Amino acid sequence: MIFYFSATGNSKYVAKQLAINTSDALISITEAVHADKYTYATKAGESLGFVVPVYFYGIPDVVVKFIEKLEITDRYDSQHYIFTVLTCGGSSGNAGKMLAKLLAKRNMIVTSSFCVKMVDNYVLMYDLPKEETINEIMIKADVSINNICKKVQKKIVGDFNDLKGFAPWIMTPVLYKVYKHVRKTNKFFVEDSCKSCGLCTIACPENAIRMTGVGPRMRPVWTNDKCSLCLACLHRCPAKAIQYGKKTQKNGRYYNKEAEK
Ligand SMILES: Cc1cc2nc3c(=O)[nH]c(=O)nc-3n(C[C@H](O)[C@H](O)[C@H](O)COP(=O)(O)O)c2cc1C
Ligand code: SF4
Ligand code: SF4
Repeated sequence: MIFYFSATGNSKYVAKQLAINTSDALISITEAVHADKYTYATKAGESLGFVVPVYFYGIPDVVVKFIEKLEITDRYDSQHYIFTVLTCGGSSGNAGKMLAKLLAKRNMIVTSSFCVKMVDNYVLMYDLPKEETINEIMIKADVSINNICKKVQKKIVGDFNDLKGFAPWIMTPVLYKVYKHVRKTNKFFVEDSCKSCGLCTIACPENAIRMTGVGPRMRPVWTNDKCSLCLACLHRCPAKAIQYGKKTQKNGRYYNKEAEK
């Protein structure tokens, strides 16, 4: 059973490749949260996987909240293979350790951890790389994902994350504190190009967006003060109508189309 959280498709793509190789069931954390479903039963000997993006050298808040409620109705022993795969834009810090600690609190002891460098979707500060660079990143990512799939299939144990970056034990506590402070929704706004389609409300894993108004004048409003800042709403709006602060108007939007194939 593989749980994944993905705002822009990178982690979904990785989770799908793993599921194809292992024949494990795929569970979307966004869908699970929408359905208020936190209890799952694994089959005997089935591996457990968690594929999530890195946010500020840590784990998305929605994933933290999901794991805190997660119940797996199964007996754990030292034979159980539990793996984590992070996707990031460059480096993960100690996000893997943070995830392992969270899982340990729920009696799930991580046996193997991995990390894949993919396209950085954090467009609140920087623009996306050029199309050519995106393709190069994906070619390299595919090689890493293939290696991870082989290791997971053989249930190889170890910490295989070589993307932790500089001083992860210092960087994670410092940057994650920043995340807790900045993930506010008051900087989101909607432009007139909004088509009233409501896709942003469906994409939001936190149920933090509600549509107001009627007919073609329906517009999203952010109902929670804080959210995970996953940027699913911003990247997946078909009209590029959602902005955050001053920089996103000129920056691109990203979705890993391979995740939907
Ligand atoms: C709020 C936020 C914070 C991020 N922080 C980091 C980071 O600390 N390190 C990093 O390498 N990438 C960072 N990223 C980039 C994502 O981890 C990366 O693009 C990831 O693959 C996105 O996964 P997804 O497409 O499954 O949502 C951040 C992205 C967001 C939205
Ligand atoms: S996804 Fe974009 S176009 Fe659709 S309702 Fe939301 S803001 Fe409007
Ligand atoms: S409001 Fe947007 S950025 Fe915040 S959690 Fe929802 S989809 Fe993600």
